[in-house]
Amino acid sequence: MNHACGIDFGTSNSTAAHYTTQGPRLLALEEGKVTLPSAVFFNLDEDSLAFGRAALTEYLEGYEGRLMRSMKSLLGSSLIDQGTEVAGRMLSFKSLIGCFIGELKRRAEQQASTAFDAVVLGRPVRFVDDNDAADALAERTLADIARDLGFAEVSFQFEPIAAAHAYEEDITREELTLVVDIGGGTSDFSLVRLSPERRGKADRSSDLLASSGVHVGGTDLDKRLSLAAIMPELGLGAALKNGALFPSSVFFQLATWHTINFAYTKKTWRTLQELAPEVTDAARFNRLLAVVRQQSAHHLAMRVEDAKIALSAAVAVDLPLPEVDNALRLELARGTFEDAIADELAAVGNAADAALTQAGIRADEIDTLFFTGGASAVPALRAALAARFPAARAVEGDAYGSVGAGLAVVARQRYG
Ligand SMILES: Nc1ncnc2c1ncn2[C@@H]1O[C@H](COP(=O)(O)OP(=O)(O)OP(=O)(O)O)[C@@H](O)[C@H]1O
Ligand SMILES: [Mg+2]
Repeated sequence: MNHACGIDFGTSNSTAAHYTTQGPRLLALEEGKVTLPSAVFFNLDEDSLAFGRAALTEYLEGYEGRLMRSMKSLLGSSLIDQGTEVAGRMLSFKSLIGCFIGELKRRAEQQASTAFDAVVLGRPVRFVDDNDAADALAERTLADIARDLGFAEVSFQFEPIAAAHAYEEDITREELTLVVDIGGGTSDFSLVRLSPERRGKADRSSDLLASSGVHVGGTDLDKRLSLAAIMPELGLGAALKNGALFPSSVFFQLATWHTINFAYTKKTWRTLQELAPEVTDAARFNRLLAVVRQQSAHHLAMRVEDAKIALSAAVAVDLPLPEVDNALRLELARGTFEDAIADELAAVGNAADAALTQAGIRADEIDTLFFTGGASAVPALRAALAARFPAARAVEGDAYGSVGAGLAVVARQRYG
């Protein structure tokens, strides 16, 4: 009986997989696709709940309601004990994550025609940087959520190690591999020795040389781009009549996926009203009010994300911002984006270095860089890693599927 599955609950996209006689198999979760965007929409007009692409579509179609994305970023943060108001009721973030993973489980079971009672969940190497207690709490919270959903057996594997297992299914010779998994929320690295012969061994501890990670991912790049190029158009950086700067907190809320809904509270609205008489740039302030009043900040964030993705292929993109102002179009250059993410680039590079230092391995000993995760496509990140590992061969994994498939390999090893 195949009762175990792997679940990759991602900041941006989630997958589920099980192990079959043909190897790991990702399960179709929405419209025949194996990814389910990690998004929930509470549709208040229709009094219904939508997940994944359907959630994003309903939000964009303009239904009244509440969209939640990047829920994983709440794990390990002080916000996890809070919630968001939906139709006058407080919905805790824990139950929201449970609601999403529960739906994912149901769809996976339906696709696999089996009930799963054991799960290997992926986890980033660090849910929380530099705070072991908060990091452990994040894992415990996720484990509790999974148990509440009916999984009798719950265990974890680092996401990049899972991806290494998926890659090892295909290799033909021994390779010292650095797995580079740059997702929506975190950048994770594992330094592993892989070979066809080692694949079947029960104890792989001597092949797992090091893992490292940092809480920096694609959603942070969206935030930086937004703060650098878009939020100034709504008044970030403007002075008040009393000479002080307009408080920046609302701009940070609007630019950060998992805090957008905090900008829609009555408290924020009151603060904005109190600031109104002090405002010097009325035009920009009115744009800010419009975005908050119309609750269009997720739409704005999607445009920023799309622009970021387009900048991986083009050196400049045109960004219309009708949610801010019908007449507003920005021309964004890749250089502007790269300047905005300089700190994030450095942090990801340092995390890669940390894996080598831990293992006592030199960069020129690495045979292969195995790339997975959507944000691994950012050219500046690629260039930073290529400069560190000039001798290594780059292998493209399945950007969205390697971790989930690898978790199914681990699930079979652990639970049969
Ligand atoms: N071509 C691209 N260029 C730049 N970024 C991209 C590209 N394609 C996708 N992304 C970004 O990749 C991120 C999503 O990647 P992915 O689905 O691997 O993350 P995740 O697994 O959900 O997150 P995590 O593993 O960090 O929890 C998003 O921030 C998305 O904008
Ligand atoms: Mg991921």
